[in-house]
Amino acid sequence: MEGIVEKGLAKAIGLSNFTITKTANLLKTAKTVPAVNQVECHPFFQQQKLKEYCNCKGIVFEAYSPLGNPGQLKQDNLERSVLDHPDIVEIAKKHSVSAAQVCISFALHRGLVVIPKSVTPARIVENFKSVDVQLDADDMKKLREVDKGMRLLQGAIFYTKGQTCEEFWDVEADEKFEVKQPEAKKQKTTGDDE
Ligand SMILES: NC(=O)c1ccc[n+]([C@@H]2O[C@H](COP(=O)([O-])OP(=O)(O)OC[C@H]3O[C@@H](n4cnc5c(N)ncnc54)[C@H](OP(=O)(O)O)[C@@H]3O)[C@@H](O)[C@H]2O)c1
Repeated sequence: MEGIVEKGLAKAIGLSNFTITKTANLLKTAKTVPAVNQVECHPFFQQQKLKEYCNCKGIVFEAYSPLGNPGQLKQDNLERSVLDHPDIVEIAKKHSVSAAQVCISFALHRGLVVIPKSVTPARIVENFKSVDVQLDADDMKKLREVDKGMRLLQGAIFYTKGQTCEEFWDVEADEKFEVKQPEAKKQKTTGDDE
C-alpha cells in the first residue's frame, strides 16, 4: 500500500481492525504513517487506550458500529444492545433525542471520527443531527461507565486454526502495552477525554 502513495495514486492509506500491538509492529517498519485506524467503537466497547495510542501516533481513530450494530443483534439479546441500555435511554430522554443520537454525540464529544450506517433516510437525517446534541459532564461520566469492554464483532472468520478471540485481538499484549504520550500531545485537548 505504501507503493500506491509513492506512485501518487493515493493521498493517504489507512488501517482497519488494528490493535495497539499490531499498529506498533507496523510502525516499526512503516515509511508512511497510516492516516486512520477504523475500529469497532461504541459505548460498550470504548477502546480508550487504543484511541490514546492512535492520537499520540498521529493516526485518526475512526469508530465503526457506533450504535453497537443493532441490525445484527438478536431480539432477545438485550445485554448486548447498546441502544437499549438504561443509562443511554435515560440520557436520550433528558435531551429529547434518540439513543442512537446519544451514541453518535458521545463519540463526537470524545473527539472521534464516527461512521454510523443507515439505509433509512429519516435515520440518516436524525444521525446527522447528533452534532447538535450537547452532552454535559454528568452524561459523559455515565456514558464512560457504560463501557463493558464488550467487542460485539469478533471477526472469528479471520482467526487462524486454533487461535482464540483473545489471541487474535492481542488482548493480553495490549493490556500490558504502555502508551507514552509525547508532552505536546498531552497538552492538546481536541476531544472531551483527551
Ligand atoms: N472496517 C470494518 O471491519 C467494519 C466492520 C463493521 C462495520 N464497518 C462500517 O461501519 C459502518 C457502521 O457500522 P455498522 O453498520 O456495523 O453498525 P452501526 O452503524 O452501529 O449500526 C447500523 C444499524 O443501525 C441501524 N440504525 C442506524 N441509524 C439508526 C437510528 N438512528 N436509530 C436506530 N437504528 C439505527 C441501521 O438500520 P437501517 O440501516 O435499517 O436504518 C443498521 O441496522 C458501516 O459503514 C460499515 O461498513 C466497518
